[in-house]
Amino acid sequence: MNIDTSALFSPIVINGCTVKNRIAVAPMTRISATEDGRATQTMARYYERFSRGGFGAVITEGIYTDQAYAQGYVHQSGVTDAVQASAWQPAVNGIRAHGALAIAQMMHAGAISQGNRFRDGAVGPSAVQPKGEQMAFYHGKDRYALPAAMTETQIADAIEGIAASAGRAIEVAGFDAIEIHGANGYLLDQFLTDYTNRRSDRWGGSTTNRMRMILETLKAVRARVGAGVPVGVRISQGKVNDYYHKWADAERDAEVVFGSLAQGGADFIHVTEFEAWQPAFAAGGPSLMRLARRHAPGTAILANGGLHSIAQAVAALDDGADIITIARGALANPDLPQRLHDGRPLADFDPSILGPIADIKPSELVGQAA
Ligand SMILES: Cc1cc2nc3c(=O)[nH]c(=O)nc-3n(C[C@H](O)[C@H](O)[C@H](O)COP(=O)(O)O)c2cc1C
Repeated sequence: MNIDTSALFSPIVINGCTVKNRIAVAPMTRISATEDGRATQTMARYYERFSRGGFGAVITEGIYTDQAYAQGYVHQSGVTDAVQASAWQPAVNGIRAHGALAIAQMMHAGAISQGNRFRDGAVGPSAVQPKGEQMAFYHGKDRYALPAAMTETQIADAIEGIAASAGRAIEVAGFDAIEIHGANGYLLDQFLTDYTNRRSDRWGGSTTNRMRMILETLKAVRARVGAGVPVGVRISQGKVNDYYHKWADAERDAEVVFGSLAQGGADFIHVTEFEAWQPAFAAGGPSLMRLARRHAPGTAILANGGLHSIAQAVAALDDGADIITIARGALANPDLPQRLHDGRPLADFDPSILGPIADIKPSELVGQAA
């Protein structure tokens, strides 16, 4: 099969920052920080490989954003103070060393926190028992705790924590850009999701109201980092604890979600689905990346989900994506862009790399200077 890959290797500019190609590493939590949330030398080596392997941008794991309820996992990294932010510098330098854009993902776990050294219990938009069970490979077991419904003050504090952390990520750690984690069942997605958000105030009800938390966070982050720093939002339907969730109002919801993000000044929208090319709603309908493109025509669209094969990657660019992001395929092939460029085969992803615990394994760093 002969596929023209030139589109994958053309640069794109996002809010003044040039990304050298269209292939980025998707965010992956690997719980390899110190117990007090500092990024480590192992993480710096792990992230540097992706840049050396030719990725145009690297989005970090979800980094927790305050010393209250944001932390989701034991050994997750944070950026809640200057010490944690400084600890990210070696990893950021590693990502930038070979010309990749370093994007920090800001994450508040909300109701599905399963390891938080700052607080007992979890909070969310409403006191609704999360679906599913905690993730064993992140040291979890059994069901999630029943969260407490957030007060106005707690909502304001969570937004402020994300904004302040984004500021530290840029100013202290040296990241180029910020991704706000609005996807996958974490706090901001809990606000967007109808069954986890049962509020009757301005944060709940209509899709417009349920988007408010994400948009207020975007506004606060923008105010903190300034107009010249790329800021984006990750959005999904599925969740780590509910894979098959679909937005009730389907394409009308997509219009509200993507249209309001564009209106709110997002520089990029990162959509993720299990298989990015599938119809987002009814059979035969448009994919989520196509809908994002339609309703946010001037915004860079990053698309994720099963896009590591060259044919799927190229097809995604035709279906509305500007950049594709790769998670498991990047673990199996830290040099995936170089392989695609050279027409070399890809290694298959081996799930055992994430077991029994999902931390970074020495075998992933083989062949690298310590
Ligand atoms: C080990 C692992 C950790 C992940 N952690 C995060 C995370 O911290 N933030 C996030 O937005 N997505 C996270 N994801 C989801 C991935 O970014 C991606 O959406 C998913 O793996 C599908 O992409 P793929 O088909 O390229 O693997 C994680 C995925 C894996 C496999």
